[in-house]
Amino acid sequence: MRFHPSVSLLDRAIVRLLPAVPKPVVRRLSFRYIAGPSLDDAIRVVERLNGKGKLATVDVLGEEITSPDEARASAGQYHDVLARIDEAGLDANVSVKLTGLGLELDQDLCRENLESVVRDAAARGNFVRIDMEDSSLTDRTLELYRELRVEGHANVGVVLQAYLRRTISDLEGIENARLCKGIYVEPPELAYQEFEAVRASFIRCLEQLVAQGTYVGIATHDEDLIGEALRIIDEVGLTRGRYEFQMLLGVRPDRADELVTDGHRLRVYVPYGQHWYEYSLRRLQENPKLAGYVAADTVGRALRR
Ligand code: FDA
Repeated sequence: MRFHPSVSLLDRAIVRLLPAVPKPVVRRLSFRYIAGPSLDDAIRVVERLNGKGKLATVDVLGEEITSPDEARASAGQYHDVLARIDEAGLDANVSVKLTGLGLELDQDLCRENLESVVRDAAARGNFVRIDMEDSSLTDRTLELYRELRVEGHANVGVVLQAYLRRTISDLEGIENARLCKGIYVEPPELAYQEFEAVRASFIRCLEQLVAQGTYVGIATHDEDLIGEALRIIDEVGLTRGRYEFQMLLGVRPDRADELVTDGHRLRVYVPYGQHWYEYSLRRLQENPKLAGYVAADTVGRALRR
């Protein structure tokens, strides 16, 4: 686990202890990052976001897939999500993880599942974003994305991670990308480790994506990067239809409101599902300062009582 130098020893200690925290407590700490266990919960959250002028992308939280049937069932859940979005007339697309569709079991099976979700989305005038997972899957993920695009599926996009050293050379030919820093722990040979190096790579990649005409989802809560993105948008005269900002549910909602007020498209990543626990741990581990605040708040409330 890597931490920013500003994270205190106490915060680090709290984060390392998180897996030992009882599930109901984690649930309480993390409810703001997750729509809830059911599709109804996700739809309710998307309705609320749309009401505030925000777009959404819905992610079904899955656990490790161990059989082809589980991978097909996972694709089935995405068909349900797309149907509900369509019926409710919501402004939301879906984000899928290829491991959830069977990538590590059988690439052909995964491709079949992905294609069925992409076709369903196209029939409903919707879009599928392929999330990017750890570096052992980067090649296969980009390969499947490119294959689908070559076959004429224009409603699919992929994610690029600025912390990977290779990413700047992966950009060519990508028509639709979400650019983020990257969330997995990767070795220094593959990924920049320093905070500023990741930021610099993010800006380089964003500039190149914009220059080559890629539709880009700028996925960050980092104020410096939001500022740089606004500068690039302004300098290039990028029109509203060429980019969007993206944030995670529950993170910096006020900043998201400001971007919407200023006329930018803003999409919120809305995870839901039975497997909320693993996702919650990741979110809290990723932001040790937040874990520290929550702990302080919990202790504070207990003391006040
Ligand atoms: P940084 O981590 O520096 O955060 C900046 C500030 O934002 C923090 O100081 C804090 O105030 C706030 N913040 C950030 N994260 C927070 C959190 N969890 N809780 C509370 N506050 C928080 N990664 C990946 O590898 N593959 C993927 O497919 C995706 N997909 C994706 C979609 C979307 C819409 C987003 C926004 C992010 C992803 N990511 C991802 C995660 C991404 O790679 C990255 O880990 C996080 O966005 C955190 O990086 P920031 O750029 O926000 O900066």
